[in-house]
Amino acid sequence: MMWSILQCILLMALLMVPQSETQYPALTESAIRFLMEGINYSAQEPKDVRNMLKEYDFIIVGAGSAGCVVANRLTEVPEWKVLLIEAGDSESYLMDIPVLANMLQFSQANWKYKAVPNNRSCLGLENKQCNIPRGKVMGGSSVLNYMIMTRGNRRDYDNWAQLGNIGWSYDDVLPYFKKSENMLVEKLAKDKVYHNTGGYQAISQPPFRTPIAEAFVQGGKELGLDEVDYNGATQTGFAFFQTSQKNGTRCSTNRAFLHPIRSRKNLHVKKLSQVVKILIDPNTKTAYGVEFVRRGRKYAVRARREVILSAGAINSPQILMLSGIGPKDHLTENSIPTLQDLPVGYNLQDHNALGGLTFLVDQPVSVLQERILNNANLIDEFARYHKGIITVPGGCEALAFIDLDDPYNRDGYPNLELLFIGGTLSSEPTLRKNFGIRKDIYDAVYKQVEHQDGYMIFPMVMRPKSRGRVMLRNRDPMSSPLIDMGYFTHPEDLEIIVKGVEWAVLLSNTTANKKLGSRLLETKLPACSSLKFNTPAYWRCHAKQITLTIYHQSGTCKMGPQADPTSVVNPRLQVKGIKRLRVVDASIIPFIPAAHTNQPVIMIAEKASDMIKEDNY
Ligand SMILES: Cc1cc2nc3c(=O)[nH]c(=O)nc-3n(C[C@H](O)[C@H](O)[C@H](O)COP(=O)(O)OP(=O)(O)OC[C@H]3O[C@@H](n4cnc5c(N)ncnc54)[C@H](O)[C@@H]3O)c2cc1C
Ligand SMILES: *[C@@H]1O[C@H](CO)[C@@H](O)[C@H](O)[C@H]1NC(C)=O
Ligand SMILES: *[C@@H]1O[C@H](CO)[C@@H](O)[C@H](O)[C@H]1NC(C)=O
Ligand SMILES: *[C@@H]1O[C@H](CO)[C@@H](O)[C@H](O)[C@H]1NC(C)=O
Ligand SMILES: *[C@@H]1O[C@H](CO)[C@@H](O)[C@H](O)[C@H]1NC(C)=O
Repeated sequence: MMWSILQCILLMALLMVPQSETQYPALTESAIRFLMEGINYSAQEPKDVRNMLKEYDFIIVGAGSAGCVVANRLTEVPEWKVLLIEAGDSESYLMDIPVLANMLQFSQANWKYKAVPNNRSCLGLENKQCNIPRGKVMGGSSVLNYMIMTRGNRRDYDNWAQLGNIGWSYDDVLPYFKKSENMLVEKLAKDKVYHNTGGYQAISQPPFRTPIAEAFVQGGKELGLDEVDYNGATQTGFAFFQTSQKNGTRCSTNRAFLHPIRSRKNLHVKKLSQVVKILIDPNTKTAYGVEFVRRGRKYAVRARREVILSAGAINSPQILMLSGIGPKDHLTENSIPTLQDLPVGYNLQDHNALGGLTFLVDQPVSVLQERILNNANLIDEFARYHKGIITVPGGCEALAFIDLDDPYNRDGYPNLELLFIGGTLSSEPTLRKNFGIRKDIYDAVYKQVEHQDGYMIFPMVMRPKSRGRVMLRNRDPMSSPLIDMGYFTHPEDLEIIVKGVEWAVLLSNTTANKKLGSRLLETKLPACSSLKFNTPAYWRCHAKQITLTIYHQSGTCKMGPQADPTSVVNPRLQVKGIKRLRVVDASIIPFIPAAHTNQPVIMIAEKASDMIKEDNY
């Protein structure tokens, strides 16, 4: 495997490989300066507290997309003492280099989960297991993510409200989307109805675009769809991403919400500490603290007012179940006494896509790692000015939101997303492993295009009907949970993907794309070789083989009105039947919005913070 200069630096730092064992080319002067800047970087986030108090007003579990926001907002009240507990370590400057996003999944900043095998999806992945990375670091999954910022459709939130979730309609949540936003793209910021400047979360666009991404958006126009601000009045159409970036580098929620408040005395942060249980008085059913493990030792800490669970859609349900809150039969199976019988872990939703749909082009225009990261000039340009192709988040650049039932309606409700990546599975030596694709499949189909320019389109199900479930493997909190993604348990989801491929093939045939020599890679996957290429049956087979998560796991502690037996938390995000305990993260989502989930989670956390303040005054 060919490692580039920048990858070597990153890997050594992240995996702590002793430098003497690795040979790498001499670094450029500016790259060294860039690294030196980074030495101070973790000092920008709140320090790990040495002497914890015995009791806090609030304990927040998990410093991810949601946890960082809640920690910021609750410590705005000077008399409240807040403890934020995170299983991972500090964020590093190197994690903010956009083009290297994929690499972070190989580091300790990833929980590295794998789903349980099934017979419907992920069949061409190693051990038939879908690969489920999750952030384990200050900033959580907002540190591993591809920085795409989307809010979803107004109908998503109106549906939530219609289910009885008072306060969650689009008109209710729009102010919270705006509250955290610092929109740095001038053209977009002009629309004051939908955008804001001056919030904590920087949103910008990478200062570089590949010509193929331009062709993707141009091709969309040829097909009759507009370029759109998908976070504005309407959502459907083509667009370059709005990203959680600041000056060409990643702006995680840690950087956005915690760096600026690191000197607040009423915020204590405990890193490298894994919460194993919520302490609940069984008689009064009141949460009063948590138990956590740090370096093999167990600690208990108390909360006067509330415990806020923000451990994400995989770990929040795990912690609840370990604490006796969950489906009674499942807890009993695991010898855990049931305190509250609730459908925790059900309703798991995600956006999944067909992976490896590859188009080749004739011009040197794609994000090819070997060309970029061994080019000292490009590294220099990034290190000095934060500009150039290194600012493109893992090669992702643009998208289309399409309502297949009404594709030319500007105000459609998308059930399909086409995600554009300016490179192929072979553009970057580690991509195959990121997705967990089996080597024999890679060798048979994708190896032949190594060193060639091309792009991928990921057709993605936006409003999936399939559901999965998170369960305990056993009662050991250090065991990973069982994750059944449930992909394609509803057959309609597969048909959306097939139609998505058809749109992608049409796009490749537009003038804008033909100019670059765009053509579909026509090699069949071995498992689908008996089917005629480029037919619905072929793409169904392909989608079941290379099924990729787009990392939007959500829904496992569903929000619903008191009477809804399928819900775990009420519309104020309080766990039903338990006092002083809330869940605030992607798990509360009742129906996954037509959006990448980072921005919706930040919105949820902003709104929850206000509710917590209201309920505690
Ligand atoms: C690889 C990847 C790419 C993605 N790309 C995008 C994208 O481009 N755009 C987008 O919008 N979304 C993207 N997402 C999804 C998005 O980032 C997540 O939906 C969002 O970050 C979830 O926020 P959360 O607060 O629910 O959970 P997280 O951000 O995952 O935070 C949970 C935190 O809790 C901590 N934790 C867990 N268990 C414990 C415990 N027992 N004790 C203490 N701490 C614990 C975790 O370490 C983590 O820091 C991506 C996600 C991934 C993984
Ligand atoms: C680190 O920060 C301190 C104080 O802010 C500053 O004086 C010093 O120059 C910085 N070091 C580097 C290497 O940037
Ligand atoms: C998948 O199908 C095979 C053959 O029908 C069966 O033996 C196996 O148990 C199934 N696996 C799962 C996880 O359902
Ligand atoms: C962006 O980063 C570069 C490199 O550190 C710096 O020179 C420049 O001033 C920054 N720009 C802004 C707007 O912060
Ligand atoms: C590609 O476009 C041309 C016209 O621009 C059309 O004649 C041809 O049928 C198209 N091919 C496909 C596969 O859609």
